[in-house]
Amino acid sequence: MKKTSFVSAAALALSFAMPASAQMSVEDQIEARQAAYQFMSWNMGKIKAQAVDGEVEFNADQMKAAANAIAAVANSGMGALYSPDSTLDKAENTRLKPEFFEQPEKAREVGMNFGREANKLQEVAASGDKAALARQFAAVGETCKACHDNFRAK
Ligand code: HEC
Repeated sequence: MKKTSFVSAAALALSFAMPASAQMSVEDQIEARQAAYQFMSWNMGKIKAQAVDGEVEFNADQMKAAANAIAAVANSGMGALYSPDSTLDKAENTRLKPEFFEQPEKAREVGMNFGREANKLQEVAASGDKAALARQFAAVGETCKACHDNFRAK
């Protein structure tokens, strides 16, 4: 009995969650993706301060937490926060270029590269190797920049 009620509770939770995300407004998509990028940027800043610049003492646990957060965002299915109506020519308060939908191959490529390097960041942070983390920070940063250069307006 216990098992059944757990399953139905989970099914119920899903049945609420699915339509809610399908109905997400363009405004909510824009806000959520900007918040996600800010959150990643904050965590990238921690890695830069500790592993690259050395202005804050290196703390392997904090580095692991920061990298885990970045990888979690990267793996969260952010594509759901992008809809053709949410580009800067159609929506307010966004810098997303319409090219994102006009060049789907390129968009997929930069997205995949970012995901791969973010996952690697998580692995490297888990190893506790400061120099390797600094290198991987740069690799991730390149993939952030590649997407911005192509699809984010100035
Ligand atoms: C797949 C493309 C893509 C990747 C990868 C990407 N970004 Fe962005 N980023 C964008 C777009 C598009 C915007 C503009 C979003 C908007 O205004 O709706 C943006 C906006 C931002 C912003 C401004 C958010 C705001 O408040 O307006 C920051 C900061 C940022 N990105 C940092 C990063 C960092 C750091 C990474 C890598 C760890 C990264 N981004 C990876 C596409 C990307």
